[in-house]
Amino acid sequence: MVSHAILQYVSKVDCPVSGAYAREQLTAWLKENDPFLETKVHRKIKKILASSSGKNARRFLQHFSSPSFDSLDACLEGLSLAQKEVHEASCFYTQVTRVFTHRQYSVAFVIDICAGNGLNGMLWLLSGAAQHVYFIDKNIETASGYKVRKRLDALGYASSYSYLCQDITHQESTIQELEAIQKNHHNGTGIITAMHACGTLTDKIMLYAHHTHMPFAVVPCCQKRGMGSLSPFSEQQNAVFAGYFTSESDYVDTLRVVALVQRGYDIQLCALPSAVTLKNRVIIGFPTKNN
Ligand SMILES: C[S@@+](CC[C@H](N)C(=O)[O-])C[C@H]1O[C@@H](n2cnc3c(N)ncnc32)[C@H](O)[C@@H]1O
Repeated sequence: MVSHAILQYVSKVDCPVSGAYAREQLTAWLKENDPFLETKVHRKIKKILASSSGKNARRFLQHFSSPSFDSLDACLEGLSLAQKEVHEASCFYTQVTRVFTHRQYSVAFVIDICAGNGLNGMLWLLSGAAQHVYFIDKNIETASGYKVRKRLDALGYASSYSYLCQDITHQESTIQELEAIQKNHHNGTGIITAMHACGTLTDKIMLYAHHTHMPFAVVPCCQKRGMGSLSPFSEQQNAVFAGYFTSESDYVDTLRVVALVQRGYDIQLCALPSAVTLKNRVIIGFPTKNN
């Protein structure tokens, strides 16, 4: 069924759906259209699948309502990390790899900025999706970050990651660091990731990605009007635009997307489940030839 046929079907049908073909089609639609997103149509399809008899459909839903990775659970055993942190990292990793795989973009290395606990980078390593991860954070002494690194060492990944203690507001040294990392990998392609990069840190990370022509995946948080966000407009235009948005985060992130498109980025948005985190917008950018 093509997309508009699915939408028509969903508007008529009520749960449960008995036909395997219909279940397969609804599952495929969700896979194609961001399984974590929660529009009216997404909610209806999930409700239909949840009450249907197909095991595969229910398993798929279960994974996408709270993705869990057996390999991660086993590797984290005994570390007593907060389940919320583990879920956030799993969902972020799931979405970013879904988009990059769909675009057939193979990743040699990941630069995880504002890495915090390091769980996102850990998943890239454990799954083999990247060969090397660079964790960057101004504070590398957190208890959870320490535990994750110790566990990575114990699992034999000590030479597969580097931990850089760096304040990314220092533009010159951050750019030097990123360029040095790129040089290390010759022609290997890397990505910059950052989950919950507070306030203008998100703008800085996007600018660093642009400067080094790298793709990125960022989950912004703590957006505030007039915080000097990345914006292609004058201050006066910004003020006028702001009046048309009820949510500060929508306003700030919209300006960011417009600015990145102007800089030659191909932008894709996706979501983390709002049950896992309310700061759940993932902005993914791929540099194009105009970058
Ligand atoms: C909200 S936490 C997010 C951590 C992790 N990505 C996560 O989602 O669990 C923000 C992280 O950014 C780091 N951070 C804040 N300001 C920074 C800066 N100027 N340079 C580098 N890291 C910074 C903090 O130390 C913290 O680990």
